[in-house]
Amino acid sequence: MLFDTHAHLQDRKLRGDLDNILRRAGEAGVEKICCVGYDLESSREAVQIARKYRQVYAAVGVHPHDAKTVDDNLVQKLRDLAREPKVVAIGETGLDYYRDLSPRDVQKEAFIVQIKLAQELGKPLIIHDREANQDVIDIVKKHRAGINGGIMHCYSGSLPLALESIKAGFYISLAGPLTYKNARRSQEVAAKLPMDRLLVETDCPYLTPEPLRGRLNEPAHVRYVAVKMAELRGQHPDETAYLTWRNACQVYRIKD
Ligand code: NI
Repeated sequence: MLFDTHAHLQDRKLRGDLDNILRRAGEAGVEKICCVGYDLESSREAVQIARKYRQVYAAVGVHPHDAKTVDDNLVQKLRDLAREPKVVAIGETGLDYYRDLSPRDVQKEAFIVQIKLAQELGKPLIIHDREANQDVIDIVKKHRAGINGGIMHCYSGSLPLALESIKAGFYISLAGPLTYKNARRSQEVAAKLPMDRLLVETDCPYLTPEPLRGRLNEPAHVRYVAVKMAELRGQHPDETAYLTWRNACQVYRIKD
């Protein structure tokens, strides 16, 4: 059994074919999926998909790229969406200094607003961090963002920073890049972190793992991430699958 903790099933590339995509996921043992929003519209769609498919849960939030859209009105809409029973987290939120599509101070403000929303609702947080490691951990600590738990999604930072994030209440989720040849840093993280803090995800339709790199990504492919993690830890893949599944159910508070 596998849990894809981060998928964008509402993406235009996947949306039209969800029945088949979820059938293939089931055949690959992927029994649960969290569909993650990145703006208001995609958060609404995530909730709709979770309503329709029993194995899909949803997260609602605004990606740092769209931080400039975050105002009181939008936060109220996220709050309303988050009352749906299958909304298990707030996100994805965070900081992205690689593309800098919103000014950095605006990104920080939108991040902090969503941390507060997660705290108000008692939900875990899904954090996107691209080339903003230090600011993310500083904000996380200062605002006690991990008080209800949370996930550092598609983690690409260092091992010491991962350990610091765990101490702040977070789980570390690894995606397709773990299988890439140049991923030494993520591979060290996957090998050395405590097993009870690791998760697997696809972040589909992006970041297709090897050996399928170049094709469209979908939840079924999360098994390649789990198999790589198993190899790095000297575990049986079934054990890795089970343990990451259990961790995902814990962070999202889903009965398994
Ligand atoms: Ni994502």
